[in-house]
Amino acid sequence: MPEAYQTNASGQNADHHSSRYRFEEAIGDLVDNSIDAKATEIDVFFGDQDLLAAGSPVIQGKNKFTYPDGLGYLHEKNSAFLIVADNGTGMSATEFTNAIIKGQRRQYAEYELGHFGVGLKKSTMSQSYETTIFTRKDGKLSIKRISSVHIQESGKDELLNDSDFTGKRAWMAETTGYKQSLNLIHSYSSGTVVLMEGLHKIEKSIGSDTVADRNSYIVAIKNKIKAYLGVIFERYIVGGFEVPLTNGSVHVIPKIKFRFSGKSVKSIDPFFKKFIDPGNNRWTLEKKITGLNSFIQPPGKPLAKVPLDSNIYIIPRDVDTKTKPAAKFIDEELIKSRDGLSRVGCQGIYIYRNQRLIEFASEDAWKGLLSTHPSNALGRWEVHLPPHLPPNLRDLDFTLDSTKTDSTIGKKTTDEMNRIIKKKYKWHPRDANPTLTMANRIKKRPEKIRAFEKNCDDCGRVGHFNKGVPLCRLYTPPPTPPTPPTPPTPPTPPTPPGPGPGGLPLPPPPSGTHTITTTKSGDLIEVSGKNIVVNEDHPGFSDLDYWFITRP
Ligand SMILES: Nc1ncnc2c1ncn2[C@@H]1O[C@H](COP(=O)(O)OP(=O)(O)OP(=O)(O)O)[C@@H](O)[C@H]1O
Ligand SMILES: [Mg+2]
Repeated sequence: MPEAYQTNASGQNADHHSSRYRFEEAIGDLVDNSIDAKATEIDVFFGDQDLLAAGSPVIQGKNKFTYPDGLGYLHEKNSAFLIVADNGTGMSATEFTNAIIKGQRRQYAEYELGHFGVGLKKSTMSQSYETTIFTRKDGKLSIKRISSVHIQESGKDELLNDSDFTGKRAWMAETTGYKQSLNLIHSYSSGTVVLMEGLHKIEKSIGSDTVADRNSYIVAIKNKIKAYLGVIFERYIVGGFEVPLTNGSVHVIPKIKFRFSGKSVKSIDPFFKKFIDPGNNRWTLEKKITGLNSFIQPPGKPLAKVPLDSNIYIIPRDVDTKTKPAAKFIDEELIKSRDGLSRVGCQGIYIYRNQRLIEFASEDAWKGLLSTHPSNALGRWEVHLPPHLPPNLRDLDFTLDSTKTDSTIGKKTTDEMNRIIKKKYKWHPRDANPTLTMANRIKKRPEKIRAFEKNCDDCGRVGHFNKGVPLCRLYTPPPTPPTPPTPPTPPTPPTPPGPGPGGLPLPPPPSGTHTITTTKSGDLIEVSGKNIVVNEDHPGFSDLDYWFITRP
């Protein structure tokens, strides 16, 4: 007969604290829940609070001998806390109870981010000793607390309701974070606020008690959280992106207002798509990959091909991104979004599920397709998990861990992707070379850009002729073109035959008053002084109409 599978509540609680989540990833998991709850506004706060002033456990009569083992950071003057608040649907009493059950799944819409039924519990306990959840639906406010102090003290896997500690344990109900959370939840007609206190991993990593050190570390963490949210939820901050569904329709991602410490979070596009320039091949090069398949195998059904939506980008070099503040900002924020990231380390495959970035810049950044090497630093490959009904996530040729930050691509799909990585493409209309593989086009980018661009006639360098690039100092405008030669005057048409005899012009008529008489012999015209004698029988006589004009 099977036996009940017992767990030791204190030991299990300690185990939760040791899980692998990064701080920012845990925040991402809570934000996923807010998105699934149809929030239009999501607020994240991180800061220090004075737990001594709020009546820390030390003041409650605890000391290092009676205080549960390993639960420091709950009686300090400076103690970090984190809040994720949303104006989503909130939870009814039943939904709230189910939400806290580990591994409890619900019916998910295909485009939703939740799947495993563990995020809320795992992510919060991985970071904090004490998590309080405030939720409001249909005007009713409920508050529950996952308290490691209570679990360790009682040895029971129990939750606290607010009536268990309000007015009894000041350090639970009277902290800055708690009061701020209450204010936030009261400001929404419906919504949920998650407060994490006793942030053991963060406190350990701060490791210093000096206020200056602590403050600079807190600032660095804030910058990291803001950047991380901007990168991971870029498409939810921008809105309008589409999630294809298995029935062939699409779900359009709504635009959500993300704030961190009250300020808007800016979206960070790791592919620099705004910097695609058909007139300049030094900026982003994009290749939409068509004809690439992944696979899905629902239980009892044959393996089926599903098109894999993906784009390869060759991002601009940092010497170029530094010339435009918006591009420089992307570089800086992306690197800030996780400890130890570098521009080179951000190469590789970026995996999205329902337009939420789940994995990037992993150790095996190209999933075995290429080496993570500086020579491939400018390559970034956007890959979307194929549409799937939530329970069928396991049927894809991808795996996804429950932190939703790590994915493995199956062999069948990587074989297909391998074909693409070896394929030659024309990357830009201005490229001289007809087609190159991604890796070879990346190699051309830093060194041999001259081969692709027109050199400046004055300084010999490239780029001056590109749109938006200032002309070089030596540039002299081309000389003004010479004024076109005046067209040759057309030859004067031959003078029409004159009226004179034989077509000859007549001699100019004599000036003054003349006497004209006629004769029947001699020359046609004989002039003597003012007397003109005209021979009427001369063959030229008939042409003489002109002659009889008397000139002054
Ligand atoms: N901010 C929230 N607003 C409304 N309901 C929430 C919120 N956070 C959690 N819930 C409810 O609690 C449930 C459990 O959340 P949890 O993150 O543990 O699992 P999940 O989102 O279902 O799956 P996953 O483990 O993949 O995140 C959710 O399915 C949801 O019903
Ligand atoms: Mg979740």
